[in-house]
Amino acid sequence: MSFKITEEFRAKADKLRARYPRPDAALIPLLHELQREAGYVPEEGMDELARLLGLPYSRVKAVVTFYTMFDREPVGKYHLQLCRNISCHMAGAPDLLAHLKRALGIDEGETTKDGLFTLSTVECLGACGSAPVMQVNDGYFEKLDTAKLDALLDDLRHGRVVPGGR
Ligand code: FES
Repeated sequence: MSFKITEEFRAKADKLRARYPRPDAALIPLLHELQREAGYVPEEGMDELARLLGLPYSRVKAVVTFYTMFDREPVGKYHLQLCRNISCHMAGAPDLLAHLKRALGIDEGETTKDGLFTLSTVECLGACGSAPVMQVNDGYFEKLDTAKLDALLDDLRHGRVVPGGR
């Protein structure tokens, strides 16, 4: 898929860049902006951002690959990112993952046919005290169990909850 940065994005990028003392400090906010605009962070977008900020492409790529909040492939309207680290694992994340796979009819890394949900597992989300935790777009859902998951999926399907992002 080819992606082109718009003039509107360029204008936003200039404004954002001006807010920071160094261009590289604007990288993460601009990546968020790019993801909002494109729905994910495309290779071409990283390339353009590197040029706009005067940074090496490898620096931009390293940031994008380090943070799971950045999607490198197109994802569904709701990106379900279930934590797989120790606290969440011990609090039942494997059962929740199995439940999500069954409920959605997809595996990890896949998107439902209606384009609504993409399912991933991620490293610690930094909310271990509320395990098990799942991030949906920019929102966190904590102390989950299968009943709460079912209710959440239903709310998302019917637009009753807006987890932030896109
Ligand atoms: S282990 Fe899941 S949030 Fe830290």
